[in-house]
Amino acid sequence: MKILITYYSKTGNTEFAAKKLAEELSRNNNQVELKKIELKRPLGMLKGILYAIMGRKPEILDLGISPADYDVVCIGCPIWAANPHPTFYSFLSQWGSFSEAETVVVFATHRGNRYKEAINKMIQRLKEKGAKKVLFIDFLDKEKEKTVKEIKDFAEKLLSH
Ligand SMILES: Cc1cc2nc3c(=O)[nH]c(=O)nc-3n(C[C@H](O)[C@H](O)[C@H](O)COP(=O)(O)O)c2cc1C
Repeated sequence: MKILITYYSKTGNTEFAAKKLAEELSRNNNQVELKKIELKRPLGMLKGILYAIMGRKPEILDLGISPADYDVVCIGCPIWAANPHPTFYSFLSQWGSFSEAETVVVFATHRGNRYKEAINKMIQRLKEKGAKKVLFIDFLDKEKEKTVKEIKDFAEKLLSH
């Protein structure tokens, strides 16, 4: 299987999860590409929160990838102000539509506050972009050991289907 893992991370928690996910999904000769989403210009916390709440899209660098190339697409970001980090929407507008066959995985890190509504918004948006099979997993930012275990279990289940 060809798997894309793309993510934004400001302080490293989502990056930690993305790298662990890449490690676990690389088993069974799967081809995994890990791509970090980079902002064109820095986005301060205050502006970032406003963008997150308003669903505005900061400019990101072109990742040079095409949806048709992957069987599984994993998209990760931190939760900001009960919303996905605004780069989630920037990425989706660059991406185009999903194919029915693709499995899409949303992963998010947060500190446990109003994250469910953010994840629901992410799933909703992905469905609007044509994704039929959407899975999700989320992690508490301080619980690294638990994150590692949950990723291992999640990857095992994903690869056994
Ligand atoms: C500006 C800002 C807003 C945040 N808002 C929330 C929130 O609404 N709910 C929550 O559970 N965590 C919130 N967090 C915590 C982050 O989602 C969490 O620490 C995450 O793991 C950071 O990911 P990163 O290290 O990959 O950047 C917020 C953090 C920042 C900096």
